Amino acid sequence: MSLKLTLPRVIGHRGAAEAAPENTLAGFREAKRQGAVWVEFDAKLSADNRCFLLHDDTVDRTTNGKGAARAKTWDELARLDAGSWKGPQFAGERLPLLKETLALFAELDLAFNLELKPCPGREIETARLVLAELRESWPVSRPSPLVSSFDLPCLEVARDEFPEFPRGLLLEEHPADWAAIARRLDVATVNIWDRDASAEWAGEIKAAGYGLLVYTVNDAERAAQLIGWGVDGVFTDAPRRVGARILDLPAQ
Ligand code: G3P
Ligand code: MG
Repeated sequence: MSLKLTLPRVIGHRGAAEAAPENTLAGFREAKRQGAVWVEFDAKLSADNRCFLLHDDTVDRTTNGKGAARAKTWDELARLDAGSWKGPQFAGERLPLLKETLALFAELDLAFNLELKPCPGREIETARLVLAELRESWPVSRPSPLVSSFDLPCLEVARDEFPEFPRGLLLEEHPADWAAIARRLDVATVNIWDRDASAEWAGEIKAAGYGLLVYTVNDAERAAQLIGWGVDGVFTDAPRRVGARILDLPAQ
């Protein structure tokens, strides 16, 4: 896939997850305040097929509720407090719907990476419903989002049914056949874990013509080293701090 994207150096991870509750509207506003021009978030489906934002399979860590997200209707999810766990100033912050998130991005002029993060067993319908809503709600006149996933069936749906969105292959390891997977899924970027990053692998990914993003990099010196290896950009919980170190570095 030819890269239709101008990749940013800094992508606010789940918004600005160090300072504000992840995957919430407050978090995206905070990312904007910190100077981020791109943010990343995780999208999945409620039991009644509403598209909303949450990282984990359960609501336990980031809300005042308990249990598997896939078993809850949107009515149940919408009642949860997704802010108090991060600090009393965020009390009452809600889990956002994808639709209201996209409306906020349009208002704040934020570009974004939508990560398809399906509940277990709901991979195909998550890709179909989330990307259909993205197609309907995000005007083509706006900068194109990047759609990524660790889940290969999700990326196959994206490739076959929503080819207008550039895709990112998220990797948790360094698979020997990464290049074959990237080619088969016709991705624009390869998004790798900081733990696995090396100058050599970065060189291979760039030489193969892919954009290269690294998650999650909160140490500004490490981010500078990655940029020095030719990495295009990093996902960070601290967009201001990391951006202050890497935004002015020369391109490789
Ligand atoms: O998309 C980058 C990063 O968000 C992938 O890992 O677990 O934070 O969604 P995770
Ligand atoms: Mg993510």
